[in-house]
Amino acid sequence: MTSAQFPRETEPWPTRGGYSYFITGAAGFIGGHLGNRLVELGNRVVGLDSYFHASKNPLKFECEPGDVRWPDLLLMRAKNADVIIHLAAAINVDFSAADPESVYDINLNGTLNVLEAARKLDKKVVFASSSEIYGSAQERAMDESHPLDCQSPYAASKTAADRACKAWQDAYGLKVNVVRLFNTFGPWQADDGYGGVIAKFTKQCLTGKPMTIYGRGDQRRDYLWIDDAVDAYLLAIEKDFNGPVNFGTGTTVSIHELASSIAVNVYGGKIADVKSLWEFGPARQGEVDCLRCDWNKAEQMGWRPAVTFDDGLKRYIAWGGGHHIGRAVDPDESKSGAVAANPAPTVFDETKFG
Ligand SMILES: NC(=O)c1ccc[n+]([C@@H]2O[C@H](COP(=O)([O-])OP(=O)(O)OC[C@H]3O[C@@H](n4cnc5c(N)ncnc54)[C@H](O)[C@@H]3O)[C@@H](O)[C@H]2O)c1
Repeated sequence: MTSAQFPRETEPWPTRGGYSYFITGAAGFIGGHLGNRLVELGNRVVGLDSYFHASKNPLKFECEPGDVRWPDLLLMRAKNADVIIHLAAAINVDFSAADPESVYDINLNGTLNVLEAARKLDKKVVFASSSEIYGSAQERAMDESHPLDCQSPYAASKTAADRACKAWQDAYGLKVNVVRLFNTFGPWQADDGYGGVIAKFTKQCLTGKPMTIYGRGDQRRDYLWIDDAVDAYLLAIEKDFNGPVNFGTGTTVSIHELASSIAVNVYGGKIADVKSLWEFGPARQGEVDCLRCDWNKAEQMGWRPAVTFDDGLKRYIAWGGGHHIGRAVDPDESKSGAVAANPAPTVFDETKFG
């Protein structure tokens, strides 16, 4: 079943303004889109971000530099908010393998600080969990009861934070909605070594470099367009969830298929051999084989993905090719020039993540 079969006819939940939101990680990819949308809807948004790895999305709200590991600052900044949206995290799986302690510190201790601030201030929290906590799909789409079988320090830190949200809800009656997004993509996602695979591949392709496929390239992901992810957060703001809720499309795309689709979109019909546009790097430890979302629970609450993978990819490449990422190159030029000049696979470089 594809999301194209579920076109959204109307906004399924109220999109009212007049509220006040405090967003951690507000300068990040999702934070920028969500904060801007909330402002467009007539709300007040205050952001906080350590600028550890912020996106370049121009923000329509104030975002103060600060760290979720500073509890007093959280208490001060969240005081006037109706809802706290906690997105701040170190999200890169390779970085988490290289520096698990900082990732745990940011992702778990940061979340505990947010939960404590919310408990003291009596505020609702919306928490950014992740599909990564499920590990690989066990022969079916993953619903919220799928075993939590995390495979990387990043996933372990998100699992711990996700379960802490439940514990604070059970122990203190805190209102916490846990949002489990599958792989999200769209404008302003980081396209460097830290970023998402669609952003990285598109940049590599648009700048005439080979797309680097780690491992065999048969890993499958369920890609969600950013506007649908923002809608998921609006739903989480608006309603009270009964347990965590998954947001994805239910369809998967392999890394190979992704590389081909990007090449075909960038070069149009002009490409004879798409395989010449990628190269292989070593398999990555802790990488999940397959993530596929069962979004029935979200659908019952009124959410559905409105943008298919193909449409989202076209939009993203048009955005990137238009003015934001490199420039489109002729495939012949890329083979003889830029690609040949950059034959080495990109490998994880810890120094990039300081
Ligand atoms: N993008 C996805 O596909 C996806 C999927 C599932 C879940 N998520 C979750 O959604 C959230 C947002 O993801 P994103 O894609 O926007 O990532 P992102 O890296 O673009 O944004 C995270 C932001 O958090 C900030 N940050 C990091 N450490 C911080 C700290 N100690 N204090 C304050 N700010 C800090 C970063 O500078 C960055 O701006 C994350 O919690 C992530 O785990 C993302």
